[in-house]
Formats: sequence, structure tokens, C-alpha cells
Amino acid sequence: MAGEQWKSKIGFILAAAGSAIGLGAVWKLPYVAGTSGGGAFFLVFLVFTLLLGTSLLLAEFVIGRKTQKPPIQAYKELAPGTPWYWVGILGIISSCLILSFYAVVGGWILTYFIRSLTGGLTDPPEGNYGILFESIISNHWEVGAAHLGFIVITILIVQGGIQKGIERASSIMMPALFIIFIVLVVRSLTLDGAMEGVRFFLQPDLDSLDGQTILFALGQAFFSLSLGVSIMVTYSSYLSKKESLVRSASSIVGLSILIAFLSGLAIFPGVFAFDLEPNEGPSLIFTVLPAVFNEMALGSLFFTLFLLLLLFATLTSAFSLLEIVVSSVSHSNPGRRRIAAWAGGLGIFILGIPSNLSYGLLSEWLIFGDIFFNQIDFLVSNILLPVGALCIAVFASYFIKRSELREELLRGSSLGSGFFSTWLVLIRYITPLAIIAAFLHVLGVW
Ligand code: PHE
Repeated sequence: MAGEQWKSKIGFILAAAGSAIGLGAVWKLPYVAGTSGGGAFFLVFLVFTLLLGTSLLLAEFVIGRKTQKPPIQAYKELAPGTPWYWVGILGIISSCLILSFYAVVGGWILTYFIRSLTGGLTDPPEGNYGILFESIISNHWEVGAAHLGFIVITILIVQGGIQKGIERASSIMMPALFIIFIVLVVRSLTLDGAMEGVRFFLQPDLDSLDGQTILFALGQAFFSLSLGVSIMVTYSSYLSKKESLVRSASSIVGLSILIAFLSGLAIFPGVFAFDLEPNEGPSLIFTVLPAVFNEMALGSLFFTLFLLLLLFATLTSAFSLLEIVVSSVSHSNPGRRRIAAWAGGLGIFILGIPSNLSYGLLSEWLIFGDIFFNQIDFLVSNILLPVGALCIAVFASYFIKRSELREELLRGSSLGSGFFSTWLVLIRYITPLAIIAAFLHVLGVW
């Protein structure tokens, strides 16, 4: 919506944090940490988030707020006549791919939520929640309908426009999310044997670090801050020139790290207290958490609340993924917003069908040795996001004039040249080098 601005700064922070916080922290981080060495992975993830993630977030903010345009138009304005606008196109492609599998997991959560309301999650077959998960997700009609339902909710909110839709929804969803999470963590930490899980999650065993873990941690840091796809360019393009980008970025990174901590502290104590395995992959939270909740007083009530929270968090991220597609199409013609939301959303639903079937009909269809769902997740998180992030870092630091960068970055804040120079070093040298090094290391070049 051209020219429209956030009603309030808090609306922008809530929506941007809403984009950042979602399945990345709650579903992906625990399962990737569980398969990649626990504490060591988490430590590397934290370092990447604080140094590279924060600098990139600021770079995306600078590009968006400076131009007040959605990504493709923003890159065209800043570097006219060059192919840099492809970074915006790459972001749109990556966003569609992310949303295609994101909505599948969103559909699983919706299914679990509805089942939890109707008592369908107590009494799993053979007392095993892993078997229950498999039987639920191989039930194509049920998860298919939930997948579609999740996309339709996303479309309905996004078509309403940036202020009426996303801002209003986020300002109710985000505070609710934190409150429910804290209750959950208190519950989890008081289980017998909880400390072993805390140790697994927070005590780094640096010997378990290898190139792949480092690349995964890098991908996870970008994924969980919604970086590398120009979504933060889009959101900050609606932000008023009066606000401090640095302050907004710190709140978003802070909130996002906090929720990652909370989710690890909610999940790993449960894994160990009930003798479950931390490394089972994407199904982790779906098989561990119901078992944990089942053993607690008022467990099913807590589980229903948790699912509601996760659904909120997942939806606010999904809004942002669809928003980038819609705003790019409807920037110059707001009348096209509704049709763009429906066409984009339904196209992404179709793109997600093979991911959805990966756990059922297509479970035997392997690409390079893994199911479609996992390969799309891998492609996006560990290749497209780091490549997108690399391009944005290089673009911002080499192709925007130093004085303009400085002015936009520091506008509305009391920080001075020292901060600017540090940021510039991080974005110009450290971030690109770290990304290139991680790729080369995985390719075995060094
Ligand atoms: N940051 C979101 C999450 O953690 C996922 C996401 C990635 C959203 C990239 C937008 C862009 O759930």
C-alpha cells in the first residue's frame, strides 16, 4: 500500500517480531539443535544471531526505510540500471518456497489444535505419540484441509492491508505468546530430570561442531530473524522516518533470542525427563510435547494453550511471507491487493502439496536421498537464505553511499560514528566472509 505508514512504532515492532518469531524458534531450532549437537549448535546460533543477524537486520531496515518501497522497486531505485533488483526477486521466490512448507507445518498445528479441543490427542496408539503423529500426518484429507485452512486464514488477513490486518492481529498475538510460553517453561523446568535437558541445550560440547553444524546454525540465525528474503525491507518501508532503526532492531533480536531460549527450555527438559530422543527431526515437538503434557496436571489444557500460541506465532510469520509477494505486485496499484493475495496464496498452497504428501503418499519419493519436504527446507534455509543475506550485505555496504547509509542508520538515535563504523565492518567484511567460509567449508574446500 503505497505511502501508508505504521500507525505506531509498536505496531511495526510487533509485526516485525511477529515475522521473526514463529516455527523457526519453536519447531525448527529444537529439532535442528537436537540433531546437530545441542548446546554447541545453540551457542553458534546465538553468536551468529547477535553479530551477523543484527547487522543484516539493520541493513534490510536501511534499504526499506530509505526508499519507502518494496524490495524490487527499492533495489531499482538505489542502483538504477543494474541487475541488483534480482535480490528482490530471489527474496520473493524464497518466500514462496518457505511458505510452501511452512503452511504444511502450520496445518499440522491447526490439526493438533482442533484435535486437542475434541480430545483426539489423549490415548495415542500403543501409548506412543510418535505413532499418533504418523497416523495424523498420513491422513491426507485431514492434513490437506488443515493446510488449505492455514493458507486461507493467511490470505484473509493479508488482503486486509498492512495496518488493519497485520498490526491489529500482531498486537494481540505477541503478548499472549510470551505469557503462555513462560507458563510452559515453568511447567517443564519443574519436571523430574529436567536438568539433563537444560544441560543438553545450554552446555556446549564444542567437539561436536563441524562445518555442517555451522552452516545449519547460520541458516537458522537468518531463518529465525526472517532475513535474506527482503521481508524486513518490506516492513521497514512502511516505517516513519522519525523512528530509530537501531532501537527497533535490538528489540526484535532480543525478543527473538528470548523466545528461542524459552522454547529450548520448554522442550529439552521434557525430552530427557521422559526418556525421549532429541534427534528425531521435524516431528520432535509433535511427539515430545504431547507426551510431556500428558504427564502433567492439567496437561491437556496446557497443550491446547500451547498449540494456540504456536498457531499465532506461525500465522504472524506466514503473513509476512505472503505480504512480500503481495506488496511487490500491488505497490503501484493497491486495487490489485486482494487478487494478489488470493492468487499468490493459492499458488503457494499448490506448491506445498508435495511437501504435505512427503509424510504419506510421497514418502518413498526421495530426492538426493531425502524426502521432498526436507529438501525444500534445506534448500531454503541453508542455501537461498545465506545467498540472499550475502547479496544484501554486499549491496548495502558497497552500493549505497557511506554518508547516506550513516544518515539512515543513525536517524532518530543518539548513537554516533563508532557504532556506524562497527556496523559497517560487520556488514561489509565479517558477514560476507562468514557466509562464504561456511559454504566453502561444507563443500570441503577448506
Ligand atoms: N522467521 C520465521 C520463523 O522463525 C520464518 C521466516 C523466515 C519468515 C524467513 C519469513 C522469512 O518462523
